[in-house]
Amino acid sequence: MGEKHVVRFEPVGIEIEVDEAQTILRAAAEQGVMLMHGCKEGQCASCKSFVLDGDDIELDRYSTFALPDYELEEGYTLLCRAHPYEDVTIELLNYDEDMIKSGLPIQQARAEVVAINPVTHDLRHLVLRLVEPTELKFFPGQYVDIAVPDSEHVRSFSMANTSSRDGGRLEFVIRVYPGGLFSEFLDQRLAIGDPLDLTGPFGVFTLRDAPDRELIFLGGGAGMAPILALLRSMAERGIDRPTTFYYGARGQRDLCFTDELEELAAKLPRFDYVPALSEPGADEDWAGEVGMITDVVARFELDLSRADAYVCGPPPMVEAAIPLLERLGVPEKRVFYDKFTTTGNAGDSKVLEAEIR
Ligand SMILES: Cc1cc2nc3c(=O)[nH]c(=O)nc-3n(C[C@H](O)[C@H](O)[C@H](O)COP(=O)(O)OP(=O)(O)OC[C@H]3O[C@@H](n4cnc5c(N)ncnc54)[C@H](O)[C@@H]3O)c2cc1C
Ligand code: FES
Repeated sequence: MGEKHVVRFEPVGIEIEVDEAQTILRAAAEQGVMLMHGCKEGQCASCKSFVLDGDDIELDRYSTFALPDYELEEGYTLLCRAHPYEDVTIELLNYDEDMIKSGLPIQQARAEVVAINPVTHDLRHLVLRLVEPTELKFFPGQYVDIAVPDSEHVRSFSMANTSSRDGGRLEFVIRVYPGGLFSEFLDQRLAIGDPLDLTGPFGVFTLRDAPDRELIFLGGGAGMAPILALLRSMAERGIDRPTTFYYGARGQRDLCFTDELEELAAKLPRFDYVPALSEPGADEDWAGEVGMITDVVARFELDLSRADAYVCGPPPMVEAAIPLLERLGVPEKRVFYDKFTTTGNAGDSKVLEAEIR
Protein backbone atom coordinates (compact mmCIF):
# COMPACT_ATOMS: atom_id res chain seq x y z
CA MET A 1 0.00 0.00 0.00
CA GLY A 2 1.18 3.54 -0.79
CA GLU A 3 0.14 7.00 0.26
CA LYS A 4 -3.50 8.03 -0.09
CA HIS A 5 -4.73 11.02 -2.06
CA VAL A 6 -8.10 12.72 -2.44
CA VAL A 7 -9.78 12.40 -5.82
CA ARG A 8 -12.69 14.75 -6.41
CA PHE A 9 -15.18 14.07 -9.20
CA GLU A 10 -16.91 16.93 -10.98
CA PRO A 11 -19.63 17.92 -11.77
CA VAL A 12 -21.05 15.55 -9.14
CA GLY A 13 -18.92 16.84 -6.24
CA ILE A 14 -18.05 13.40 -4.84
CA GLU A 15 -14.69 12.86 -3.13
CA ILE A 16 -12.94 9.55 -2.48
CA GLU A 17 -9.55 8.55 -1.10
CA VAL A 18 -7.30 6.58 -3.43
CA ASP A 19 -4.22 4.65 -2.42
CA GLU A 20 -1.33 5.04 -4.87
CA ALA A 21 -1.36 1.27 -5.35
CA GLN A 22 -4.98 1.37 -6.56
CA THR A 23 -6.56 2.66 -9.73
CA ILE A 24 -9.11 5.43 -9.31
CA LEU A 25 -11.85 3.20 -10.78
CA ARG A 26 -11.11 0.39 -8.34
CA ALA A 27 -10.99 2.71 -5.31
CA ALA A 28 -14.32 4.25 -6.37
CA ALA A 29 -15.92 0.79 -6.72
CA GLU A 30 -14.63 -0.22 -3.27
CA GLN A 31 -16.22 2.92 -1.81
CA GLY A 32 -19.56 2.28 -3.53
CA VAL A 33 -19.15 4.97 -6.23
CA MET A 34 -20.33 3.54 -9.56
CA LEU A 35 -18.39 5.12 -12.41
CA MET A 36 -18.91 4.30 -16.08
CA HIS A 37 -16.56 1.58 -17.27
CA GLY A 38 -16.29 -1.47 -19.49
CA CYS A 39 -13.16 -3.59 -19.82
CA LYS A 40 -11.22 -2.25 -16.80
CA GLU A 41 -8.13 -3.06 -18.88
CA GLY A 42 -7.45 0.23 -20.70
CA GLN A 43 -8.94 -1.00 -23.97
CA CYS A 44 -12.48 0.28 -24.40
CA ALA A 45 -12.37 3.99 -23.39
CA SER A 46 -15.64 3.77 -21.43
CA CYS A 47 -13.95 5.23 -18.34
CA LYS A 48 -12.23 8.11 -20.19
CA SER A 49 -12.34 11.31 -18.14
CA PHE A 50 -10.65 14.69 -18.04
CA VAL A 51 -8.13 15.80 -15.43
CA LEU A 52 -9.19 19.28 -14.29
CA ASP A 53 -6.61 19.72 -11.59
CA GLY A 54 -3.38 17.89 -10.73
CA ASP A 55 -1.03 16.15 -13.10
CA ASP A 56 0.85 13.55 -11.07
CA ILE A 57 -1.07 10.55 -12.37
CA GLU A 58 0.57 7.35 -13.62
CA LEU A 59 -1.13 4.97 -15.98
CA ASP A 60 -0.82 1.18 -16.13
CA ARG A 61 -0.60 -0.42 -19.60
CA TYR A 62 -3.39 0.70 -21.93
CA SER A 63 -4.25 0.71 -25.61
CA THR A 64 -3.71 3.90 -27.63
CA PHE A 65 -7.04 3.15 -29.30
CA ALA A 66 -8.66 3.91 -25.95
CA LEU A 67 -6.44 6.92 -25.21
CA PRO A 68 -4.47 8.32 -28.17
CA ASP A 69 -1.35 10.34 -27.31
CA TYR A 70 -2.91 13.67 -28.30
CA GLU A 71 -5.78 13.10 -25.85
CA LEU A 72 -3.34 12.22 -23.08
CA GLU A 73 -1.52 15.49 -23.78
CA GLU A 74 -4.82 17.42 -23.73
CA GLY A 75 -5.49 16.07 -20.22
CA TYR A 76 -7.67 12.99 -20.74
CA THR A 77 -7.07 9.88 -18.67
CA LEU A 78 -8.41 6.34 -18.22
CA LEU A 79 -9.72 5.89 -14.69
CA CYS A 80 -9.28 2.10 -14.84
CA ARG A 81 -5.52 2.56 -15.36
CA ALA A 82 -4.86 5.78 -13.41
CA HIS A 83 -2.96 5.91 -10.09
CA PRO A 84 -2.91 9.36 -8.47
CA TYR A 85 0.27 10.55 -6.75
CA GLU A 86 -1.27 13.82 -5.50
CA ASP A 87 -4.78 15.16 -4.86
CA VAL A 88 -6.58 15.50 -8.19
CA THR A 89 -9.90 16.70 -9.59
CA ILE A 90 -11.47 14.71 -12.39
CA GLU A 91 -14.28 15.75 -14.70
CA LEU A 92 -16.49 12.75 -15.47
CA LEU A 93 -17.43 12.91 -19.15
CA ASN A 94 -19.93 10.13 -18.93
CA TYR A 95 -21.85 9.39 -15.77
CA ASP A 96 -25.30 8.45 -14.67
CA GLU A 97 -26.64 10.67 -11.92
CA ASP A 98 -29.19 8.05 -10.84
CA MET A 99 -26.54 5.35 -10.49
CA ILE A 100 -23.38 7.03 -9.28
CA LYS A 101 -24.32 7.17 -5.60
CA SER A 102 -26.37 3.99 -5.53
CA GLY A 103 -23.28 1.80 -5.69
CA LEU A 104 -22.80 -1.29 -3.61
CA PRO A 105 -19.26 -1.62 -2.24
CA ILE A 106 -17.42 -4.47 -3.93
CA GLN A 107 -16.71 -7.64 -1.98
CA GLN A 108 -14.43 -10.61 -2.47
CA ALA A 109 -16.05 -14.00 -2.21
CA ARG A 110 -15.37 -17.68 -2.59
CA ALA A 111 -17.94 -19.83 -4.36
CA GLU A 112 -18.23 -23.43 -5.47
CA VAL A 113 -19.53 -24.85 -8.72
CA VAL A 114 -23.04 -26.30 -8.49
CA ALA A 115 -23.77 -26.92 -12.18
CA ILE A 116 -22.31 -26.45 -15.66
CA ASN A 117 -24.88 -27.20 -18.33
CA PRO A 118 -24.83 -26.56 -22.09
CA VAL A 119 -27.63 -24.25 -23.21
CA THR A 120 -26.40 -24.21 -26.82
CA HIS A 121 -23.41 -25.75 -28.61
CA ASP A 122 -21.14 -22.92 -27.32
CA LEU A 123 -23.01 -21.35 -24.37
CA ARG A 124 -22.78 -22.81 -20.88
CA HIS A 125 -25.06 -22.12 -17.92
CA LEU A 126 -22.75 -21.94 -14.90
CA VAL A 127 -24.31 -22.01 -11.44
CA LEU A 128 -22.24 -21.15 -8.37
CA ARG A 129 -23.05 -21.20 -4.66
CA LEU A 130 -21.39 -18.62 -2.45
CA VAL A 131 -19.42 -20.20 0.39
CA GLU A 132 -17.78 -17.19 2.10
CA PRO A 133 -19.58 -14.83 2.45
CA THR A 134 -22.85 -16.62 1.72
CA GLU A 135 -24.50 -13.55 0.18
CA LEU A 136 -23.29 -10.94 -2.30
CA LYS A 137 -25.52 -7.91 -2.83
CA PHE A 138 -25.84 -6.88 -6.47
CA PHE A 139 -28.33 -5.20 -8.76
CA PRO A 140 -29.80 -7.30 -11.61
CA GLY A 141 -27.66 -6.68 -14.70
CA GLN A 142 -24.35 -6.32 -12.83
CA TYR A 143 -21.31 -8.55 -13.18
CA VAL A 144 -18.46 -10.02 -11.13
CA ASP A 145 -14.82 -10.70 -11.93
CA ILE A 146 -14.00 -14.39 -11.62
CA ALA A 147 -10.35 -15.27 -10.98
CA VAL A 148 -9.05 -17.79 -13.49
CA PRO A 149 -7.62 -20.61 -11.32
CA ASP A 150 -3.82 -21.00 -11.37
CA SER A 151 -3.33 -17.66 -13.12
CA GLU A 152 -3.19 -13.97 -12.28
CA HIS A 153 -6.06 -13.20 -14.65
CA VAL A 154 -9.70 -12.42 -14.05
CA ARG A 155 -12.64 -12.53 -16.46
CA SER A 156 -15.90 -10.58 -16.11
CA PHE A 157 -19.24 -12.38 -16.20
CA SER A 158 -22.74 -10.95 -15.80
CA MET A 159 -25.16 -12.59 -13.41
CA ALA A 160 -28.26 -13.97 -15.12
CA ASN A 161 -30.15 -14.18 -11.83
CA THR A 162 -31.51 -11.38 -9.72
CA SER A 163 -30.12 -11.92 -6.22
CA SER A 164 -27.93 -14.27 -4.19
CA ARG A 165 -30.37 -14.24 -1.26
CA ASP A 166 -31.71 -17.60 -2.42
CA GLY A 167 -28.99 -19.90 -1.00
CA GLY A 168 -26.08 -17.79 -2.27
CA ARG A 169 -26.79 -18.72 -5.88
CA LEU A 170 -25.10 -16.94 -8.80
CA GLU A 171 -25.98 -17.89 -12.38
CA PHE A 172 -24.01 -17.07 -15.51
CA VAL A 173 -24.27 -17.68 -19.27
CA ILE A 174 -20.76 -18.10 -20.66
CA ARG A 175 -19.66 -18.46 -24.24
CA VAL A 176 -16.91 -21.00 -24.87
CA TYR A 177 -14.10 -19.75 -27.13
CA PRO A 178 -11.58 -22.29 -28.43
CA GLY A 179 -8.37 -21.41 -26.62
CA GLY A 180 -10.20 -19.08 -24.24
CA LEU A 181 -8.30 -18.93 -20.95
CA PHE A 182 -11.36 -19.12 -18.72
CA SER A 183 -14.08 -20.40 -21.04
CA GLU A 184 -12.12 -23.41 -22.31
CA PHE A 185 -11.13 -24.21 -18.71
CA LEU A 186 -14.82 -24.00 -17.78
CA ASP A 187 -15.77 -26.28 -20.63
CA GLN A 188 -13.06 -28.88 -20.24
CA ARG A 189 -11.71 -28.91 -16.68
CA LEU A 190 -13.97 -27.14 -14.19
CA ALA A 191 -16.02 -29.66 -12.18
CA ILE A 192 -18.93 -29.63 -9.75
CA GLY A 193 -17.68 -28.71 -6.26
CA ASP A 194 -14.59 -26.83 -7.51
CA PRO A 195 -13.89 -23.48 -5.80
CA LEU A 196 -13.83 -20.16 -7.68
CA ASP A 197 -12.85 -16.76 -6.27
CA LEU A 198 -14.73 -13.72 -7.40
CA THR A 199 -14.96 -9.97 -6.80
CA GLY A 200 -17.91 -7.69 -7.34
CA PRO A 201 -20.43 -6.42 -8.06
CA PHE A 202 -19.46 -4.07 -10.89
CA GLY A 203 -21.36 -2.41 -13.68
CA VAL A 204 -24.12 0.04 -14.46
CA PHE A 205 -26.25 -2.15 -16.76
CA THR A 206 -29.14 -1.92 -14.32
CA LEU A 207 -32.77 -1.00 -14.83
CA ARG A 208 -33.37 2.75 -14.44
CA ASP A 209 -36.58 3.75 -12.75
CA ALA A 210 -38.54 5.45 -15.55
CA PRO A 211 -42.05 3.99 -15.44
CA ASP A 212 -43.38 6.03 -18.37
CA ARG A 213 -40.66 4.93 -20.81
CA GLU A 214 -40.89 1.78 -22.92
CA LEU A 215 -37.96 -0.65 -22.99
CA ILE A 216 -35.87 -2.00 -25.83
CA PHE A 217 -33.46 -4.81 -25.02
CA LEU A 218 -30.98 -5.76 -27.71
CA GLY A 219 -28.66 -8.70 -27.18
CA GLY A 220 -26.52 -11.31 -28.84
CA GLY A 221 -24.63 -14.40 -27.64
CA ALA A 222 -23.90 -14.40 -23.92
CA GLY A 223 -25.45 -10.91 -23.79
CA MET A 224 -28.51 -12.98 -22.90
CA ALA A 225 -27.27 -13.16 -19.26
CA PRO A 226 -27.81 -9.60 -17.94
CA ILE A 227 -30.93 -9.07 -20.08
CA LEU A 228 -32.42 -12.25 -18.61
CA ALA A 229 -31.58 -10.85 -15.18
CA LEU A 230 -33.41 -7.59 -15.98
CA LEU A 231 -36.46 -9.43 -17.36
CA ARG A 232 -36.57 -11.84 -14.41
CA SER A 233 -36.36 -8.88 -12.04
CA MET A 234 -39.18 -7.09 -13.87
CA ALA A 235 -41.36 -10.20 -13.54
CA GLU A 236 -40.52 -10.51 -9.82
CA ARG A 237 -41.30 -6.83 -9.20
CA GLY A 238 -44.34 -6.64 -11.49
CA ILE A 239 -42.80 -3.97 -13.75
CA ASP A 240 -45.01 -4.18 -16.81
CA ARG A 241 -43.52 -1.51 -19.07
CA PRO A 242 -43.94 -2.07 -22.84
CA THR A 243 -40.81 -4.12 -23.58
CA THR A 244 -39.28 -5.72 -26.67
CA PHE A 245 -36.24 -8.01 -26.51
CA TYR A 246 -34.44 -8.34 -29.85
CA TYR A 247 -31.97 -11.24 -29.71
CA GLY A 248 -29.54 -11.95 -32.53
CA ALA A 249 -28.25 -15.44 -33.27
CA ARG A 250 -26.70 -17.14 -36.28
CA GLY A 251 -28.91 -20.23 -36.48
CA GLN A 252 -31.59 -21.93 -34.40
CA ARG A 253 -28.91 -23.90 -32.56
CA ASP A 254 -27.74 -20.59 -31.05
CA LEU A 255 -31.09 -19.77 -29.44
CA CYS A 256 -31.48 -20.40 -25.71
CA PHE A 257 -33.85 -19.85 -22.76
CA THR A 258 -36.76 -19.84 -25.24
CA ASP A 259 -39.17 -21.59 -22.85
CA GLU A 260 -38.32 -19.25 -20.01
CA LEU A 261 -38.75 -16.19 -22.25
CA GLU A 262 -42.21 -17.47 -23.20
CA GLU A 263 -43.04 -17.90 -19.51
CA LEU A 264 -41.83 -14.35 -18.85
CA ALA A 265 -44.09 -13.11 -21.64
CA ALA A 266 -47.02 -14.75 -19.85
CA LYS A 267 -46.08 -12.86 -16.65
CA LEU A 268 -45.33 -9.56 -18.42
CA PRO A 269 -48.27 -9.02 -20.80
CA ARG A 270 -46.60 -6.10 -22.62
CA PHE A 271 -43.35 -8.03 -23.29
CA ASP A 272 -42.41 -9.28 -26.78
CA TYR A 273 -39.46 -11.52 -27.59
CA VAL A 274 -38.11 -11.15 -31.14
CA PRO A 275 -35.30 -13.60 -31.96
CA ALA A 276 -33.65 -13.18 -35.36
CA LEU A 277 -31.29 -15.46 -37.26
CA SER A 278 -28.51 -13.92 -39.32
CA GLU A 279 -27.50 -17.17 -41.04
CA PRO A 280 -30.42 -19.63 -40.99
CA GLY A 281 -29.48 -22.92 -42.65
CA ALA A 282 -31.31 -23.77 -45.90
CA ASP A 283 -32.75 -26.82 -44.17
CA GLU A 284 -33.86 -24.91 -41.07
CA ASP A 285 -37.59 -24.68 -40.50
CA TRP A 286 -37.65 -21.07 -39.30
CA ALA A 287 -40.66 -18.79 -39.59
CA GLY A 288 -39.17 -15.99 -37.50
CA GLU A 289 -37.14 -12.91 -38.38
CA VAL A 290 -34.04 -13.17 -40.55
CA GLY A 291 -31.12 -10.72 -40.74
CA MET A 292 -28.63 -8.88 -38.57
CA ILE A 293 -30.35 -7.96 -35.34
CA THR A 294 -29.76 -4.24 -35.89
CA ASP A 295 -31.49 -4.48 -39.33
CA VAL A 296 -34.41 -6.24 -37.68
CA VAL A 297 -34.73 -3.45 -35.10
CA ALA A 298 -34.62 -0.89 -37.93
CA ARG A 299 -37.46 -2.78 -39.70
CA PHE A 300 -39.66 -3.01 -36.60
CA GLU A 301 -39.12 0.36 -34.95
CA LEU A 302 -39.90 3.79 -36.38
CA ASP A 303 -39.75 6.07 -33.37
CA LEU A 304 -38.02 5.16 -30.12
CA SER A 305 -37.97 8.64 -28.62
CA ARG A 306 -40.01 7.37 -25.64
CA ALA A 307 -37.78 4.33 -25.06
CA ASP A 308 -34.85 3.40 -22.85
CA ALA A 309 -32.52 0.98 -24.63
CA TYR A 310 -30.27 -1.69 -23.10
CA VAL A 311 -27.70 -3.29 -25.37
CA CYS A 312 -25.42 -6.17 -24.43
CA GLY A 313 -23.15 -8.60 -26.23
CA PRO A 314 -20.12 -8.72 -28.51
CA PRO A 315 -18.47 -5.31 -29.13
CA PRO A 316 -19.29 -5.13 -32.91
CA MET A 317 -23.00 -5.66 -32.21
CA VAL A 318 -23.03 -3.02 -29.46
CA GLU A 319 -21.11 -0.56 -31.67
CA ALA A 320 -23.60 -1.06 -34.53
CA ALA A 321 -26.62 -0.77 -32.22
CA ILE A 322 -25.78 2.51 -30.45
CA PRO A 323 -25.92 4.84 -33.52
CA LEU A 324 -28.99 3.01 -34.84
CA LEU A 325 -30.88 3.49 -31.58
CA GLU A 326 -29.92 7.17 -31.50
CA ARG A 327 -31.09 7.54 -35.11
CA LEU A 328 -34.41 5.99 -34.10
CA GLY A 329 -34.76 8.64 -31.41
CA VAL A 330 -33.48 7.11 -28.17
CA PRO A 331 -31.72 9.97 -26.36
CA GLU A 332 -27.97 9.27 -26.06
CA LYS A 333 -28.20 9.26 -22.25
CA ARG A 334 -30.95 6.63 -22.37
CA VAL A 335 -28.86 4.03 -24.23
CA PHE A 336 -27.27 1.74 -21.62
CA TYR A 337 -24.83 -0.91 -22.71
CA ASP A 338 -22.29 -3.52 -21.65
CA LYS A 339 -19.71 -4.46 -24.24
CA PHE A 340 -18.34 -7.94 -23.63
CA THR A 341 -14.83 -6.82 -24.53
CA THR A 342 -12.38 -9.66 -24.56
CA THR A 343 -9.13 -9.57 -22.64
CA GLY A 344 -7.48 -12.32 -24.74
CA ASN A 345 -4.78 -11.39 -27.24
CA ALA A 346 -6.29 -12.63 -30.47
CA GLY A 347 -9.87 -12.16 -31.53
CA ASP A 348 -9.93 -8.40 -31.02
CA SER A 349 -8.13 -6.89 -33.94
CA LYS A 350 -8.54 -3.36 -32.59
CA VAL A 351 -6.48 -4.22 -29.56
CA LEU A 352 -3.88 -5.94 -31.69
CA GLU A 353 -3.59 -3.02 -34.06
CA ALA A 354 -3.35 -0.48 -31.29
CA GLU A 355 -0.10 0.25 -29.61
CA ILE A 356 0.04 -0.75 -25.99
CA ARG A 357 1.51 1.88 -23.68
C1 LIG B 1 -18.50 -6.11 -18.40
C2 LIG B 1 -18.29 -7.45 -19.06
C3 LIG B 1 -19.21 -8.47 -18.84
C4 LIG B 1 -19.04 -9.71 -19.48
N1 LIG B 1 -19.99 -10.68 -19.28
C5 LIG B 1 -19.87 -11.87 -19.94
C6 LIG B 1 -20.87 -12.88 -19.81
O1 LIG B 1 -21.85 -12.75 -19.08
N2 LIG B 1 -20.69 -14.01 -20.53
C7 LIG B 1 -19.60 -14.23 -21.35
O2 LIG B 1 -19.51 -15.28 -21.98
N3 LIG B 1 -18.65 -13.27 -21.47
C8 LIG B 1 -18.74 -12.12 -20.79
N4 LIG B 1 -17.76 -11.18 -20.92
C9 LIG B 1 -16.53 -11.52 -21.68
C10 LIG B 1 -15.61 -12.33 -20.74
O3 LIG B 1 -15.18 -11.50 -19.66
C11 LIG B 1 -14.35 -12.85 -21.44
O4 LIG B 1 -13.68 -11.79 -22.10
C12 LIG B 1 -14.66 -13.93 -22.45
O5 LIG B 1 -15.35 -14.97 -21.80
C13 LIG B 1 -13.40 -14.52 -23.05
O6 LIG B 1 -12.57 -14.97 -22.00
P1 LIG B 1 -11.66 -16.26 -22.15
O7 LIG B 1 -10.71 -16.24 -20.99
O8 LIG B 1 -12.48 -17.47 -22.36
O9 LIG B 1 -10.90 -16.00 -23.52
P2 LIG B 1 -9.51 -15.19 -23.68
O10 LIG B 1 -8.41 -16.00 -23.15
O11 LIG B 1 -9.72 -13.83 -23.12
O12 LIG B 1 -9.42 -15.15 -25.22
C14 LIG B 1 -8.78 -16.25 -25.85
C15 LIG B 1 -9.26 -16.38 -27.26
O13 LIG B 1 -10.66 -16.58 -27.31
C16 LIG B 1 -11.17 -15.93 -28.46
N5 LIG B 1 -12.11 -14.88 -28.06
C17 LIG B 1 -12.29 -14.39 -26.83
N6 LIG B 1 -13.26 -13.45 -26.82
C18 LIG B 1 -13.68 -13.34 -28.09
C19 LIG B 1 -14.66 -12.54 -28.73
N7 LIG B 1 -15.42 -11.64 -28.04
N8 LIG B 1 -14.87 -12.70 -30.04
C20 LIG B 1 -14.14 -13.60 -30.74
N9 LIG B 1 -13.18 -14.39 -30.20
C21 LIG B 1 -12.96 -14.26 -28.89
C22 LIG B 1 -10.01 -15.31 -29.15
O14 LIG B 1 -9.54 -16.19 -30.10
C23 LIG B 1 -9.00 -15.14 -28.05
O15 LIG B 1 -7.70 -15.15 -28.47
C24 LIG B 1 -17.92 -9.94 -20.31
C25 LIG B 1 -16.97 -8.92 -20.48
C26 LIG B 1 -17.15 -7.70 -19.88
C27 LIG B 1 -16.12 -6.62 -20.09
S1 FES C 1 -12.90 0.57 -18.56
FE1 FES C 1 -11.20 1.85 -18.77
S2 FES C 1 -10.64 1.61 -20.82
FE2 FES C 1 -12.23 0.14 -20.58
